[in-house]
Amino acid sequence: MTLAERCRADFPILERRINGNPLVYLDSAASSQKPRQVIDAVRRYYETTHANVHRSIHTLGEEATALLEASRDKVRAFIGAAEREEIIFTRGTTEAINLVAQAIGRTIKPGDEVVVTEMEHHSNLIPWQMLCRDRGAVLKAVPVIGDGFLDLEAFSRLLSSRTRVVAVAHVSNVLGTINPVGEIVKRSRAAGALVLVDGAQAVPHMPVNVEGLGADFYAFSGHKMLGPTGVGVLYGRRAVLETLEPAWGGGEMIKEVWIDHAQWNDLPWRFEPGTPPIAPIVGLGAAVEYLSGVGMEAVASHEQALCRLTLDLLAKNGDVTIYGPRNPEIKGAVVAFNVRGLHPHDVAHLLDQEGIAVRAGHHCAMPLMRRLGVVGTLRASFSVHTTPAEIEHLARSLSNLNLML
Ligand SMILES: Cc1ncc(COP(=O)(O)O)c(C=O)c1O
Repeated sequence: MTLAERCRADFPILERRINGNPLVYLDSAASSQKPRQVIDAVRRYYETTHANVHRSIHTLGEEATALLEASRDKVRAFIGAAEREEIIFTRGTTEAINLVAQAIGRTIKPGDEVVVTEMEHHSNLIPWQMLCRDRGAVLKAVPVIGDGFLDLEAFSRLLSSRTRVVAVAHVSNVLGTINPVGEIVKRSRAAGALVLVDGAQAVPHMPVNVEGLGADFYAFSGHKMLGPTGVGVLYGRRAVLETLEPAWGGGEMIKEVWIDHAQWNDLPWRFEPGTPPIAPIVGLGAAVEYLSGVGMEAVASHEQALCRLTLDLLAKNGDVTIYGPRNPEIKGAVVAFNVRGLHPHDVAHLLDQEGIAVRAGHHCAMPLMRRLGVVGTLRASFSVHTTPAEIEHLARSLSNLNLML
């Protein structure tokens, strides 16, 4: 039995029919579907354990706190962080990046520089734009060249003694390019800059070891990795986190409060003000357990095979243009493409008539769309439950588009 055949029964939503057809869900990069194990963990939590965390002395409060902190341990192990204090729960990748931008922002001076790339999701661009605007800093972007790679020579030229932060995607949500984060960290560190990696499209699809990568910050979302919406993770190196003031204030992030000042709590709670998204965090713990059970190496090779099949089949269609690297071995679990003469939204609508869900649009990466010279693209993306038959169905439907018009 293949990995997908084993996993499919775990995803109740795959029983749905869309416009009379079985659902072919090829939009996991936007948000993944949830296995029963995650849904059950959230339901069980609400049915048996819910209370607020880190404050109540009663049994439910202590059990809820234990569940939340157990999820932190699971996430730590899953991404190879050295210490649980380095795992900060947020509402998602976007909030994690804003947290870093605001915390670091306090230390940024006019003329300091931030380096991003042309392939960033707006989540890893707008917070840095806002920071640079507010602090009089300069934003620079590494160009995308060839089939969708970062121009590393240009990157080296952009680094200077004024570079304070380098913010880069681990895997592009459009091109699928796996960026050479280790090398980027090495060069950035030599220039004295901190590195934030947007791992939203990496953690759900391949083994990630943050210690090995060496980045200072690593952000990702629960809902893209089979977990619930409303939860994400910011990994931060303890040595760096210790130097930062909290981004936001509120309950739980303090140890002692006077009317005119306060003493911050220990890591990681210093960066987690207010009631956290407890149930989503518990669900994220279940998602991490599920993915670990399947094995991230197995997930990566399953999705690489799907990527190869998609690239091969789409390349046979003379009307289809593919964007991003053609080699699935250096690519994440997405394939972006366009169909000649048709707007991506129209193609997505036609595919939906057949039950096939793909993403169409600018993918929150408008500067990249400009670089590619398109208004938008279609994007097929994969998960553990995706089968080769579904990819063949997509390719067949694309070939028959003229019949559907
Ligand atoms: C590469 C990348 N970064 C950031 C995000 C934003 O994630 P979220 O909306 O979960 O905060 C996404 C979501 O599509 C993404 O693909």
